[in-house]
Amino acid sequence: MYILITGCGGFIGFHLTLRLLKNNKKIRIIGIDNLNSYYSKKLKDERVKILKKNSRFKFIKFDLINKKKLSDTFIKYKFKYVVHLAAQAGVRYSFSNPEKYINSNILAFNNIIELCRINQIENFFFASSSSIYGNQNTFPIKEKSILEPVSFYGTTKYLNEIIASSYSKNYSLKSTALRFFTVYGPYGRPDMALYKFVDLIKRNKKIDLFNYGNHMRDFSYIDDIIEAIIKIIKFRLKIKDKNNYMTFNLARGRSQKLINFIKEIELNLQTKAKINNIKFQRGDVLKTHADISKLKRITNYKAKIDIKEGIKNFIAWHNSYHKIK
Ligand SMILES: NC(=O)c1ccc[n+]([C@@H]2O[C@H](COP(=O)([O-])OP(=O)(O)OC[C@H]3O[C@@H](n4cnc5c(N)ncnc54)[C@H](O)[C@@H]3O)[C@@H](O)[C@H]2O)c1
Repeated sequence: MYILITGCGGFIGFHLTLRLLKNNKKIRIIGIDNLNSYYSKKLKDERVKILKKNSRFKFIKFDLINKKKLSDTFIKYKFKYVVHLAAQAGVRYSFSNPEKYINSNILAFNNIIELCRINQIENFFFASSSSIYGNQNTFPIKEKSILEPVSFYGTTKYLNEIIASSYSKNYSLKSTALRFFTVYGPYGRPDMALYKFVDLIKRNKKIDLFNYGNHMRDFSYIDDIIEAIIKIIKFRLKIKDKNNYMTFNLARGRSQKLINFIKEIELNLQTKAKINNIKFQRGDVLKTHADISKLKRITNYKAKIDIKEGIKNFIAWHNSYHKIK
């Protein structure tokens, strides 16, 4: 049984591929990634190198904008289901580089969902984001809240959801939007807060703290998120209705002030952070806090790792990874 995971060289794609290969010996995974240089290519290469150790994994490097190559891959492997995680991530970057988001998040998304339809794939799972909610007034945020993204990145994810929902209504394609909330952990993204802060604090450099650290985020540990994705996949594979579209919040379900997150890092590193306070930025969202009752009710999901343990694990990985390099 072949399954397709796009963005396997990325943070979440890497962990999901690793876990699925471990959990199910019948699974063969085709992983696609263009390994772009949005952040350290070395880290992406490292992740793919680890995945390649498993003989049931095959890596194909190309840009999903290449519809012909993608189509050939679909025809060759007849995927049981598709997990589409490749995207241009990042909120602030989306204002300076909108064309990258158009290409990867809209045109490439369109290629993949179209090929799912043409090749009669039953289940299509794709990465959405907490960014689609924008600045809400009521917390925790439920899946049925009004979607009002403020960043261009969030807008592209919102558009993905509209397209997927339309495909599910009109064609036999069960689509599932995975709305991730600030995922962190080992092999995490160097453009995200935790990695950046740890790097800078270790080197005794100043960290830029937006909105004076008053932002609140639902920090979600990677292992919990992978567990949630796998539970959702299992549940969705059993659904008979082929026109069914669903959305899920994937998070820990707690909200923390960024400044408290930093305090926890300081405690672990036994070093005080040097802070450069910066005012609220365009596209920023003040607070995220997911209502995960739907995920819990349907899949029996339970988040296990709090920020204390999660930050400790990340720093242990960061120490060893940067020693090897
Ligand atoms: N990490 C988070 O906290 C978070 C939160 C919300 C949503 N998401 C979404 O989840 C998904 C995975 O996130 P991540 O943190 O692993 O990001 P990531 O940047 O680490 O992984 C994405 C991968 O996709 C690849 N890619 C991008 N455009 C491509 C293209 N056109 N063709 C082929 N490959 C391409 C990149 O090279 C990268 O390796 C993304 O869609 C992201 O927008 C992540």
